[in-house]
Amino acid sequence: MAQKKRILSGMRPTGRLHLGNYVGALENWIRLQETSESHHMVADWHMLTTSLDTKEIRQNSLEVVIDWLAAGLDPRKSPFFIQSHVREHAELHLIFSMLVTVARLQRNPTVKEQARDLGLEANMSYGHLGYPVLQAADILLYKANAVPVGEDQAPHVEITRELARRFNFSFGEVFPEPETILTQFARMPGLDGRKMSKSLNNAIYLSDSPKEVSEKVMQAYTDPTRIRKTDPGHPEGCVVFAYHQKFSPETADQVACDCRAGRLGCVEHKRQMAKTISDFLEPIHARRQHYETHPDEVLSIIDEGDKAARRVAGATMEEVRKAICLG
Ligand code: TRP
Repeated sequence: MAQKKRILSGMRPTGRLHLGNYVGALENWIRLQETSESHHMVADWHMLTTSLDTKEIRQNSLEVVIDWLAAGLDPRKSPFFIQSHVREHAELHLIFSMLVTVARLQRNPTVKEQARDLGLEANMSYGHLGYPVLQAADILLYKANAVPVGEDQAPHVEITRELARRFNFSFGEVFPEPETILTQFARMPGLDGRKMSKSLNNAIYLSDSPKEVSEKVMQAYTDPTRIRKTDPGHPEGCVVFAYHQKFSPETADQVACDCRAGRLGCVEHKRQMAKTISDFLEPIHARRQHYETHPDEVLSIIDEGDKAARRVAGATMEEVRKAICLG
């Protein structure tokens, strides 16, 4: 039997999670927690790369953890911790930062794209350029051999592998070279057809009530060429159909057929999907409500997770200090 996978997964605390986060990450993590040894990390230090406004980071970290719990991640199987509560991440980041060239980091397509989107090209901070180096420290402190991420994060895992190799070559074998576990159903369109994202204001949140879900789905983007119900529809490119494929795949073929034939109208289809999504969210809401009303439980889950993470990270750093003969 192959050894259990060791996994480190991480998410930046941007606030409440939406269906895109669920499908793009959480769902995978929930599956993986059954067959692997996972640690789940809230990457709060990583938030500093794009904004120095830290007022909401703590609260947003709690929201993320509550959504993880609500979605079904189980901290008894896989501890949850907050990056900034485990100082070893900063220490290993410092050492790794000596093992990678500036030119290598500047070639990273994800960081380049982010810089372009934020108009930062000439003004990128040293820490932002080094974002993947901190991510490598996150991953390798837990000697993870697998990291579940979306496609945009794959270049960071590549840098992680290079850092592991470079470290091992220079100082002796300490780190594994982690593989990327790419999320399958990574793209969940937002209500307007673009990628679902908080900043685009097109998201359905895990915490949305049935009323909110219904209002949002009713105004979702469908087939613009279809005016009357009897006009033939085009399910491909229709947001509601994408939700259908995800949330009731068993009837997707039939629905596509009915839509194309002009038997199923958009309004009716939206009504069905709003209900399906709300039904899907119902158990998530029940758990969310429990944790919202028991904040002490959430804090103690984090506290336990921090301790578990510190144990592993601390042991790895001992090895690192020994290997480099410093500290
Ligand atoms: N960079 C990731 C993101 O933006 C978050 C992250 C930080 C992460 N550290 C990590 C993901 C370690 C996986 C492993 O989504």
